[in-house]
Amino acid sequence: MTTETVTADWGSINIPTVDWESPEFHSGIERAVAAVANYQGGPGIVRSQRGIEVVGYDAAAAIVRNNDFSLGMKARMDSIGIDGEATRESFLNFLFSRDGAHHLRARRACAPWFASSSADRMRADVRAWVGEWLDDAAGEAGDFDFLWKIANKLPATLYCLIIGAPLTDAPLIQHLSEECMLLSAPPLPGHRERLEEAASKTKAYLLELTEQRRQNPGEDLLSFLVAAEARGEIDESDILAVSFNALVGSTDTTAAQMCCNLEALAQNPEQWQLLRREPERIPHAVMELMRYNPGAWSITRSAKETLTYRGAELTPDVTVFPLIFAANNDPAVFPDPRTLDVTRPHAKQPLNFGAGIHGCLGRMFSLLEQEEVLRATLERWESVEVVEADFSGAMFFLVPRAFRVSFTPAAS
Ligand code: HEM
Repeated sequence: MTTETVTADWGSINIPTVDWESPEFHSGIERAVAAVANYQGGPGIVRSQRGIEVVGYDAAAAIVRNNDFSLGMKARMDSIGIDGEATRESFLNFLFSRDGAHHLRARRACAPWFASSSADRMRADVRAWVGEWLDDAAGEAGDFDFLWKIANKLPATLYCLIIGAPLTDAPLIQHLSEECMLLSAPPLPGHRERLEEAASKTKAYLLELTEQRRQNPGEDLLSFLVAAEARGEIDESDILAVSFNALVGSTDTTAAQMCCNLEALAQNPEQWQLLRREPERIPHAVMELMRYNPGAWSITRSAKETLTYRGAELTPDVTVFPLIFAANNDPAVFPDPRTLDVTRPHAKQPLNFGAGIHGCLGRMFSLLEQEEVLRATLERWESVEVVEADFSGAMFFLVPRAFRVSFTPAAS
């Protein structure tokens, strides 16, 4: 790691440079946090090959909330070489890719549905599914495939319930989401074609389901949105903006986080035992687990128009990365950050769900899933160890490729 005086688009200000491609950023969170620890005070920014990394909590939260910046979806697609008009339109139409009135119209239309009462209505279903899946796997104590039997299955099944799709569509949803998440992976040959196919299949699927909800409405999100459409408040592209965004935003993110939660607790067995004794701590424990071992590592931003940021000129083609993992481990906000303590108060919200006008709409759903999985495993397992953990892609999100555990069943 070096510190250099940057003189190009940053004017004559001194900004440290980190090598994002070095193993420090690709060998787990401990090393990544250590690599940025010296830069979290002061301006809280460093430079890397891919753009500007924002490593201090306050600086990262401020950028995320700053409406002079947008998500930067155009730059992302350009870097992968996505030039197909229909695919570009689909991804630029995502709720979090939108700006200004275009964004607000769709967000306002769906926000009441996302309020916590919708999530609470689904808690009993989630509890029943997780209980059943874990009980089915009771005989697999020595080697339990947590990724495929719980983590990937639950968010896709819940998404089906959210949009009023048959629950049997969950494997299809999981597959489409995983393909769309290639947007967040380092661009490799073949990704462009796979993304284009996934975007077109997902759009067709959601439009067909929307039409079914127009004919036969229920209590789900799509029915809520088609009612707003019928009142003339939104149109079909707004419905897609919300439903497509919720698909890619809800499934792999929550799956990765559930693996990260279990990994952190397996490494801290005293915290596991504390939660077994005091399960009322589970909701707060989930936020502490997300802080300590986030599945989503970064948000992205780029300036909507060239602007001056902290004395430097930022053009729209520069990507700014407010780093969740770094902000959540800023000792100025979370003292002794590399200690997992499910009882610690949080002076500020961990940054996992973003903040401001684009803050995560589905956080109550994700928290519900994480809480219920934690509750059900704590009840059934005396202790847990990780047998295999393989995560790829620390660019924005960790993608679990394998996550298997062994557990000691609790005495009944
Ligand atoms: C651990 C799980 C999750 C994480 C880490 C996460 C993270 C985020 C973040 C960081 C943002 C803001 C993006 C930005 O500002 O650029 C966001 C937005 C969003 N999330 Fe989540 N999310 C999760 C789960 C969910 C779930 C379960 C849903 C839906 C059921 C969901 C739906 C959305 C939507 C629709 C937006 C766009 C909001 C807007 O632009 O107005 N997310 N999420």
